[in-house]
Amino acid sequence: MKNIILIGFMGTGKTTVSNTLSKLLDLNQIDTDNLIKVKEKLNITQIFQKKGEQYFRDCETKILKELDKSKNFILSCGGGMALKEENRRLMKELGVVVWLSAAPQTILSRVETNMERPILNGNMNLSYIENLIKKREKYYENAADIMITTDGKTVDQICDEIIIKL
Ligand code: S3P
Repeated sequence: MKNIILIGFMGTGKTTVSNTLSKLLDLNQIDTDNLIKVKEKLNITQIFQKKGEQYFRDCETKILKELDKSKNFILSCGGGMALKEENRRLMKELGVVVWLSAAPQTILSRVETNMERPILNGNMNLSYIENLIKKREKYYENAADIMITTDGKTVDQICDEIIIKL
């Protein structure tokens, strides 16, 4: 079994899919945002506010470099992980990169209730999300080995699709 790396925009279901897939495939579950929060003893919004986005992005790259590779894992990445060329290369070296996508409307409805997303602060609207997806899509595509759309699918259906494509 290869390691699985989940990428994609905020609200595409990376954490939910990771929860289920880690059990189905008996993989160690790792989440980059959680690791950063624990290391920094701050939540994501506080890290952005106190240390800045660049600092957060550097933490993300560090995590990819320092991962414990002794047990197979499923890694769910923050939505900006694929933006850096270095991260895309590191993720490919780690395993199969799976890009979860969703329509902007689906994403909006999923992120609206969670204020822990500094990238969307003050911009929790459809056109902002659409534009940001357009800007980022090429990076997700470039990083990914497998692409899965999640709209209208249950988490079990998404996991089955991933397993078939692995
Ligand atoms: C970000 C996505 C977030 C988190 C941070 C930045 C982004 O993760 O890493 O707020 O730039 O898209 P989720 O995709 O898990 O929300």
